[in-house]
Amino acid sequence: MGPLSDDDRRKVDPTDDRRFYDTPRYVTHADEAFRDRLTRLYDDVFEPGDRVFDAMGSWVSHFPDTTLERAIGHGLNEAELRSNERYDEWFVQDLNREQTLPLADDAVDVVCCALSVQYLQYPAAVFSEFDRVRDDDGAVVVSFSDRMFPTKAIGAWREASMEERVDLVTAYFHAGGMTVADRRVERGPGDPFYALVGRAGSDGSGR
Ligand SMILES: C[S@@+](CC[C@H](N)C(=O)[O-])C[C@H]1O[C@@H](n2cnc3c(N)ncnc32)[C@H](O)[C@@H]1O
Repeated sequence: MGPLSDDDRRKVDPTDDRRFYDTPRYVTHADEAFRDRLTRLYDDVFEPGDRVFDAMGSWVSHFPDTTLERAIGHGLNEAELRSNERYDEWFVQDLNREQTLPLADDAVDVVCCALSVQYLQYPAAVFSEFDRVRDDDGAVVVSFSDRMFPTKAIGAWREASMEERVDLVTAYFHAGGMTVADRRVERGPGDPFYALVGRAGSDGSGR
């Protein structure tokens, strides 16, 4: 069941998410200061030679220059994923229809999910998958701001304050079996920056 009720999951536009994303958008979904902060955070988390999974990605990943063994992209728009220069491979999958990822247990060192968590209707199942594909010492980095496609964000997100969104994503990590090991908040100027880093274990907050 997880942290969301059926009402919480509701979107203004209930049609197939793939239709909404079928035209590529070669834009950035946050300002430069946000993107720089995210790149710095990834730089702190990534190690040379890491295997990285970029969930809900697009044509840009905000990765630092770190040499990676492998970068696996995922999203809903093929053209965007194909034009992402950091991906070695990628796949399309609607996480609101199918949460099980086509990746082996412990397949990656870092899972990234940037500017997209507000669109997940079944976050407990998705975060469980992030935990499964994450190596035992690996990290899951979820970042967000106050922008969204309002018709596609879930009701619980639309109605929450930024602090409540931090609590919501924290609950997603707990539901997925992880603890929040690091929390970064920069309220501006510009797009506010929020990022949570999940790792193995329980921080005692319960699931
Ligand atoms: C605002 S964009 C962010 C893209 C990228 N992470 C970035 O930082 O620029 C939201 C992304 O979430 C993905 N997405 C939205 N709904 C999805 C769903 N139901 N299943 C899988 N991916 C989804 C889309 O492919 C889109 O690229």
